Amino acid sequence: MKILGIESTAHTLGFGLYDSDNDEIFQVKDMYKTPKGEGMVPRKVADHHQQVAGRLIDILTSKYSMKDVDAIAFSQGPGIGQCLQVGAFITRLFALKYKIPVIPVNHCQAHIEIGKWATGMRNPLIIYVSGGNTQIIIQEDEEYRVVGETLDIGMGNLFDALGREIGLEYAHGSVLEMMAKRGNYIPDIPYSVKGMNFVFAGLLTHASKRMTGKYNNEDIVYSVMHNAFAEVAEAAERALCLSHKKEVLLCGGVAQNKMFQKMLYKMAGYHGARFAVPDNEFNADNGAMIAYTGYLRYEKGITIPISMVKPRPKWRIDQE
Ligand code: FE2
Repeated sequence: MKILGIESTAHTLGFGLYDSDNDEIFQVKDMYKTPKGEGMVPRKVADHHQQVAGRLIDILTSKYSMKDVDAIAFSQGPGIGQCLQVGAFITRLFALKYKIPVIPVNHCQAHIEIGKWATGMRNPLIIYVSGGNTQIIIQEDEEYRVVGETLDIGMGNLFDALGREIGLEYAHGSVLEMMAKRGNYIPDIPYSVKGMNFVFAGLLTHASKRMTGKYNNEDIVYSVMHNAFAEVAEAAERALCLSHKKEVLLCGGVAQNKMFQKMLYKMAGYHGARFAVPDNEFNADNGAMIAYTGYLRYEKGITIPISMVKPRPKWRIDQE
């Protein structure tokens, strides 16, 4: 069976294909880069997706014939409404033209499923960190349950905003990670864990109001990253002890950060749990994870009619 997957929740438009007969994955994508000092402007990102869609589809169809595709999966949410609209539109177009069923996929679940596929984990404690989301998740029976999460912004958005605040031209996580390596810890910066949940906005406010000009950027970046990671690690450790899981999976865009990986590796090892993180190609948004998760859902008989192919910008992983 071959399932096509479309990802368009935020900065990346991606197409992927999962071939269940060979357990093989293919993907092609293009990411919108925000201009200096600017956050993601939904209209501009959606324009980008429309402009690159044709080229990406050409690449995909030069490798696979659409006539061999059995169903199409699309990232229905959570995400930016205008970007999701582009993915939904392409999905409707393909579904009508090739008369194939449509599978709605939750973007967060897709990060987790491809993470399990890539690492061979079966039932891990999941730490999901992306731009808009930061959640600690466990799977019970067939359902995902959020046991801890950010009470304000996602970790990726915290770092993007921090990058803009200190005037970086390209506030990508990898740039911040390089800076953090040269930084020293600033004492007395906020650290806020509330039970299994955590708060990041205070870190940003403190960094922009009290630290800029007083400390160098490397120290600021290192200290904000350190405390943000430590907050999540503390809550995850509590969740690990309570859930008695034997595996810890880190996934999502921010999972690429080595400092975060090391902190969680130590924490998991201390409790005798295996820690793993998928390759960067799967942590970054991509269409392959949508295709693969679409396959898993299709096997359960989950499809929707064309009239329901609409964005769900606030779709949580613990909702149907
Ligand atoms: Fe993502």
